[in-house]
Amino acid sequence: MDRLIIRGGKRLEGSVQIRGAKNAVLPQIAAALLSSAPLEITNVPDVSDVTTMLALLQEFGVATQRDARSVTIDAGKATNAVARYDLVRKMRAGILVLGPLVARFGSARVSLPGGCAIGARPVDLHLKVLEALGATVGVEGGYINANVSAGKLKGGRIVLPFPSMGATETALMAATLARGESEILNAAREPEIADLALCLVAMGAKIEGAGTQRMLVQGVDTLRPATHHLLPDRIEAGTYAIAAAITGGHLELLDARLEHLATVGAALERAGVQIWPTDRGLMISRSGRLSAVDIVTEPYPGFPTDLQAQFMALMTIATGASVIRETVFESRFMHVPELGRLGANISLQGSTALVRGVETLRAAEVMATDLRASVGLVLAALVAEGETTVHRIYHLDRGYEALDRKLVQCGADIRRVTE
Ligand code: EPU
Repeated sequence: MDRLIIRGGKRLEGSVQIRGAKNAVLPQIAAALLSSAPLEITNVPDVSDVTTMLALLQEFGVATQRDARSVTIDAGKATNAVARYDLVRKMRAGILVLGPLVARFGSARVSLPGGCAIGARPVDLHLKVLEALGATVGVEGGYINANVSAGKLKGGRIVLPFPSMGATETALMAATLARGESEILNAAREPEIADLALCLVAMGAKIEGAGTQRMLVQGVDTLRPATHHLLPDRIEAGTYAIAAAITGGHLELLDARLEHLATVGAALERAGVQIWPTDRGLMISRSGRLSAVDIVTEPYPGFPTDLQAQFMALMTIATGASVIRETVFESRFMHVPELGRLGANISLQGSTALVRGVETLRAAEVMATDLRASVGLVLAALVAEGETTVHRIYHLDRGYEALDRKLVQCGADIRRVTE
């Protein structure tokens, strides 16, 4: 298992290329199942979750072709196979094949993804969405069985009790091939949802209101060949912004968009970091001291849960105390004890962390537990005195393309050790 050895204390300077969004490409790969015509997606990040999602589609007889920056997915000869536990277990986003399979074939059998390190993460909303569109859904022996007696889903009104990203994506994809009109209320508004809608529209779907709380979908019978260019990854961009901030550095994030990071940018500014748009993306700089800032994670446009661990790493060396409240996932604090090993002073009470800034962090051996927790540890290690070893970094490779190489190019001292 690979590990990273990081010697802290280097300021980051230079530029980093931000790639297409991981959380946009995964649903779009699933969306290819809706169509018998090929879908080409460009600006695809080289991360292992993409490989896992493509492997899942290959189970259905889908032809996939991956080049340096694009994937082409041809589900023309797809068959309605079972989405097996060993594949869906690896990556929760595997549940996203459920909606497209039911919409195209009238039935589906998909393994329950189970829990994961950041919380229970049930899929009940995905199932309710399909029921609202006329499917009969049951769970037996760890598998979801969904059937449409009429053979085709029927447009309906979907009211989400919580703006879940995944359930909104299931709703959009399933409604695309349903008969008649569907209305999705309290929809998630993340930019990745609007990007999925753009991709589906390029494929021939009829969607209005993407990116807002109310979306209208007019079902169509068939879809056409399409090409879609992914939007930049706001979480990758936010992670490098915090890397610049924590090291007192100066980074330009190429292709990053400030409008997708408004809440994060505001929190960084309150902490004493400068952030401004440039012709090529975003500039981040910090020269003064860091001040403690409180944050609450919320669905978009609130502060993203996917940047909570990174922001907490930043707060460990700020002046003062910061209150960090997690409202999206109940137990997304796996990084807290590991940050403690680096000398951070954090106390946890339920879903709230109190971070008292310390003068310096000190190197230790730490363990990565999930994607964002892992990267939070890497950011802390960039300023810890001495040599920190981050173990189990396969989590990082799931969602960050060449993280260590990109950081090294900006001046970080990092070695990857492969065993
Ligand atoms: N939830 C339910 N029932 C459902 C679906 C969700 O109770 O049927 C709950 C979840 O347990 C969670 C909350 O609702 O507490 C939010 O879940 P949501 O459905 O919005 O999240 P997701 O679609 O499972 C995506 C991202 C996550 C990101 C969240 C929140 C992808 C592939 N994953 O997950 O990304 O944290 O939205 O923004 O898009 C990551 O990239 O590290 C990551 C975990």
